[in-house]
Amino acid sequence: MDNLYSGLLLDGKHYDQIHRDADWDLSFWSVQARKYGDPVLELACGTGRVANTLAIEGFRVTGIDNSDTMLSEARRKSEFQGIDVEWVLADVRHFELGTTFPLIIFPFRSIAALLTAKDLEACLSCVKKHLKAGGKFIIDAFNPDLDIMCRGSEDRYPFAEYPDPEGKGTIVVTQSNVYDAASQINRIKLFLKLPTRTEEMIEELNLRIYFPQELNALLEYNGFNIEDKFGDYEETYFDSSSKLQIMICSISP
Ligand SMILES: C[S@@+](CC[C@H](N)C(=O)[O-])C[C@H]1O[C@@H](n2cnc3c(N)ncnc32)[C@H](O)[C@@H]1O
Repeated sequence: MDNLYSGLLLDGKHYDQIHRDADWDLSFWSVQARKYGDPVLELACGTGRVANTLAIEGFRVTGIDNSDTMLSEARRKSEFQGIDVEWVLADVRHFELGTTFPLIIFPFRSIAALLTAKDLEACLSCVKKHLKAGGKFIIDAFNPDLDIMCRGSEDRYPFAEYPDPEGKGTIVVTQSNVYDAASQINRIKLFLKLPTRTEEMIEELNLRIYFPQELNALLEYNGFNIEDKFGDYEETYFDSSSKLQIMICSISP
C-alpha cells in the first residue's frame, strides 16, 4: 500500500473540502518554524495546507508527497497565492533532495500512512540524511483511541459532510472500521453518498496505529533523541489522556 488514501479522497479538491475547517494546528507549525525553521521540509504535504501557510509567512518551504493529484492542487493554490513553494513528487520512505533542512515536519498524523515499522524506519533514515546538524524533526501522530479501535465492524459513524467541489450538492461520508491487532492497522471503510449517484461509493483508508512506547522506541532505536513530547498543539505535556503524540526530535549525538 503506497498511500493511505485512494479514489476521491486523493483528489486534492475533495481533500480540501473535507478539511476546509482544519486550521487548529497551523499556529503550532508557525511557532515551530519561527523557533527552528527556514527552510522547512514538510513530509506528506498533501494540498499544502501547512506548507502554503508557512510560505505565506515568509518561510522557504519544500513539500513532498507521493500523490500527483494532491500536489497539483497544492501547486495551483501556491501559484494563485503568489508564493513560492518547492513541490516534490516523492515517497517519504525514499527521497533524495540533495540538501539539508534545520526543520523537517510530519504534520496531521500522516505517519499513519507508514503501515509497517520497516516503512517508518525507511522514512527515518531519509529524515536523518536531510536533517541539518542540530536540526529538529517534528511528528504529529494520534495517541491510539481504544474506543474507536473496539468499534463493531458493522457500526457506522459520521466521517464528513462537504460541498461537492463541482457544485453538484452535498457529499455525505460515513465510516466503519475494523482494527487488526496483529498488524496494528485500523482498516477503515468510507461510504460516500454522492448527490449524483444512488448507490454509495466505498473507499478504504488504512491507518497504522503507533502506540506511545512503541513510537518512542522506534525513534530512539533509529538514532533520534526525543527532546519533548506534547499531547496537543498548546504544548501540554503528553499523558494518558492526550489525543495526540507531538514529538520534537533531534538526531542523537
Ligand atoms: C492526511 S494527508 C496530510 C496532508 C498535509 N500534510 C496536511 O496537513 O493537510 C496525508 C498525505 O500523505 C500522503 N502520503 C501517503 N503516503 C505517502 C508516502 N508514502 N509518501 C509520500 N506521501 C504520502 C498522501 O498523498 C496525503 O497527501
